[in-house]
Amino acid sequence: MNDASLPANRGCILVVDAQRNTRAITANLLRARGHTVLEALSGEQALATLAKSEVHLLLTRLQMRPMDGLTLLKCALEVAPSLQVIVTTASGSIESAVESMRRGAFDYVTLPFKEGEMLHRVERALEQTRRQATIGQHAGKFSERPGPSALVGRSPAMRELTSLLQRAAPSDATVLVQGESGTGKELVARAVHAASPRKNKPFVLANCAAVSEAQLESELFGQPRGTRTGAARARRGLFKEADGGTLFLDEVTELTPALQSRLLRTLQDGEVRRVGESTPQRVDVRIIAATHRDIEQEVREKRFRQDLFYCLNVVPLRVPPLRERVEDIPVLAEHFLQRANARGPRPKRLSGAAVECLMDHGFPGNVRELENLVRRAAALAEGDELQPEDFLLPRLPPRRAASKRPTKRRARASV
Ligand SMILES: Nc1ncnc2c1ncn2[C@@H]1O[C@H](COP(=O)(O)OP(=O)(O)OP(=O)(O)O)[C@@H](O)[C@H]1O
Ligand SMILES: [Mg+2]
Repeated sequence: MNDASLPANRGCILVVDAQRNTRAITANLLRARGHTVLEALSGEQALATLAKSEVHLLLTRLQMRPMDGLTLLKCALEVAPSLQVIVTTASGSIESAVESMRRGAFDYVTLPFKEGEMLHRVERALEQTRRQATIGQHAGKFSERPGPSALVGRSPAMRELTSLLQRAAPSDATVLVQGESGTGKELVARAVHAASPRKNKPFVLANCAAVSEAQLESELFGQPRGTRTGAARARRGLFKEADGGTLFLDEVTELTPALQSRLLRTLQDGEVRRVGESTPQRVDVRIIAATHRDIEQEVREKRFRQDLFYCLNVVPLRVPPLRERVEDIPVLAEHFLQRANARGPRPKRLSGAAVECLMDHGFPGNVRELENLVRRAAALAEGDELQPEDFLLPRLPPRRAASKRPTKRRARASV
């Protein structure tokens, strides 16, 4: 190798490989060319490093356990969308290398690699990073961190949900979001609004479960001051507040029969009448409704009006429980830890063992449970690296755990 082939730009490269020899040979080669090289021996460790260091290029082995290279690729691109990734693979597994490029890797190198080829590919990837950074500075693209309504997670189930959501967002079609408690239904509703032409208009939340029928009616539809019902002050009503924007009807199955028919009439007419008034006012509102219940069963058992269900269920979005997308757990945990770090006095990181332990947990409380576990562990742990015991998780015997939910291997087989 002559000096003329030295890369023009040097970068920070994270080399991930469980095999010490391969990792050391790669790292030494790249260090000798002047790059800063970080090393990780697992996908979990790599994610922890990505969360705390500015890495330009991720060089990862595809065949690793428990988290394989494809899963790491997806999680890494979620944390840092402008990161370049080169995968390394044994020469017999080219298909998976090609698959990884389909999923966002920049390039692949077969093992054992030739020094010249490896350096050439690394150089090209770093050049791409530099080009994107320049575009990012000028156009404000390539933001590294998700926005407040960004859905973290790149499992097949979440990708499908995001793609449906993107297709539904531009229209005014009513959306019905279904999913267990804590799966992210409200976040999905906010994401639909944020991706819609109404994004600069209000997003108004109405919790249909929280209050009495009379109070909810006046909150939703409005009420003039001093009517027969004795309102002390006038209410515009949430429909009116949301005019031009989106009204999110959370826990919609909790509406009483009287409010269900009033809602149906309002949706059909596009007009709202305040409590005790007969003159309707026009409103331009997009409706997103959500429920954690099986709404079709509510319809079958005559607790929820069928015509209202059809009216709401124009675009159905189902948010999958976390146990059906175990591969989202590492990146969600990193996401919540970064939030906690931004508030806490001392940044903390996740150990590989902690991530594995989280991936083994069933999460009946879904993403909210994970968020709370990470927040509590970040607040209470004494060391800088969070360990399994910091999460205070109940330990299930392996066999019971395996029979109760998809194993990591099965979850990964669907990746
Ligand atoms: N994909 C995700 N990415 C990032 N944060 C998420 C994601 N899904 C859920 N969260 C976070 O998890 C918490 C629970 O989400 P959310 O309130 O949207 O759930 P929900 O389905 O409405 O729950 P519930 O049925 O209990 O009202 C929130 O803090 C939310 O920001
Ligand atoms: Mg909710």
